[in-house]
Amino acid sequence: MVHRSTLSISSASDETWQEKVESVEKPLSVKPLLIGSLVVDPPLLQAPMAGFTNYAYRQIVRDYGGVGLQATEMVNARGFVWLDEHESEHPDRLWGVRDEARPLAVQIWDNEPETMAKVGRRLVDEYQVSVVDINFGCPVRQVTQKAHSGSYLLSQPERMHAIISQLVSACAPTPVTAKIRLGCTRKTANASLVARVVEEAGAAALTVHGRTAEDYFKGNADWEQIAQLKDHLRNIPLIGNGDIDSPEKVVHAFRHYRVDGVMIARAALGRPWLFAQAAAALRGEPIPAEPSLADQKSCMLRHYDLVVERFGVQKGTHLMRKFACCYAQGKHGARHFRTHVAHAEGPAEFHRVVEEHFPRDVT
Ligand SMILES: Cc1cc2nc3c(=O)[nH]c(=O)nc-3n(C[C@H](O)[C@H](O)[C@H](O)COP(=O)(O)O)c2cc1C
Repeated sequence: MVHRSTLSISSASDETWQEKVESVEKPLSVKPLLIGSLVVDPPLLQAPMAGFTNYAYRQIVRDYGGVGLQATEMVNARGFVWLDEHESEHPDRLWGVRDEARPLAVQIWDNEPETMAKVGRRLVDEYQVSVVDINFGCPVRQVTQKAHSGSYLLSQPERMHAIISQLVSACAPTPVTAKIRLGCTRKTANASLVARVVEEAGAAALTVHGRTAEDYFKGNADWEQIAQLKDHLRNIPLIGNGDIDSPEKVVHAFRHYRVDGVMIARAALGRPWLFAQAAAALRGEPIPAEPSLADQKSCMLRHYDLVVERFGVQKGTHLMRKFACCYAQGKHGARHFRTHVAHAEGPAEFHRVVEEHFPRDVT
């Protein structure tokens, strides 16, 4: 039976939400997630996010703990091949992948089964990745209209089947997974058919963001629709994604929406400790408090150092502006901080802005 409430974007202090959420202290018997032979424990996944989930961010998340499987940003398969052939280089988005801790999923996108298979095999052989994930959810025009990839492929289940099955053969025994939306539009939502195709083609897990491509990020993720997909999968696990921003919502998703795993994206950008909090909630333990603002500031500065080490001071500082805004989001004085950090050009200025304007502990 699927619970009738919806998961709306709201903070844990939201009364309406609190009324819907049951006590997280009631023990939940959540099992580790099995993706092929990979054991994902706890069954909490850090979502792929282009422009964000690079090596630096993944390190920060990993240090706090509580995450069962992390993912890179999406990597374009054709771009990978082109770079390799013309410049003997690999995409910047694979920064750190060779050396960092496992398990780690690399997400790729494109629409040519052969190219996808070729790149998948190389990720397995040269990078020893734990999982190759396919992006069938990206709604961005450049990917859908221009490259007929990402969520566009939801309208082409046969091609999805070809991509997945060729990738599965090329990567075996490394598992291949698929990340989808509910469909291209609400009217043409076909996730139940797509779920069957994904499993039939040999994927080891299905992740569903409970919106359509047309929705982009509007409205709420539809967890009822995610739950219904369980009826269309025989053996592979279902991972739910969309609008999870608190440990309570993680528990609620496992309890009511028949998912085997939960994936978190935006909410963990400025709160990389969210996975550790959610993992504690799943174990029925007290949820660790938010780090103090001073600790959050230190975490952000460590993140900054990692980014600058890789990209140099100017590009690194520019890249870090958006991350810094995530760390400040929702806090008193965030807008003021954002205005200042948006102009930071180098380390001295970045540190000065953080010292002067990052939200402070209330004493
Ligand atoms: C800035 C940004 C970049 C994203 N990049 C990717 C991506 O590279 N691959 C992907 O499958 N999804 C991508 N997504 C979608 C997220 O993985 C996730 O499905 C979506 O944000 C819903 O989850 P959330 O409500 O927890 O944020 C991106 C989302 C955002 C906000």
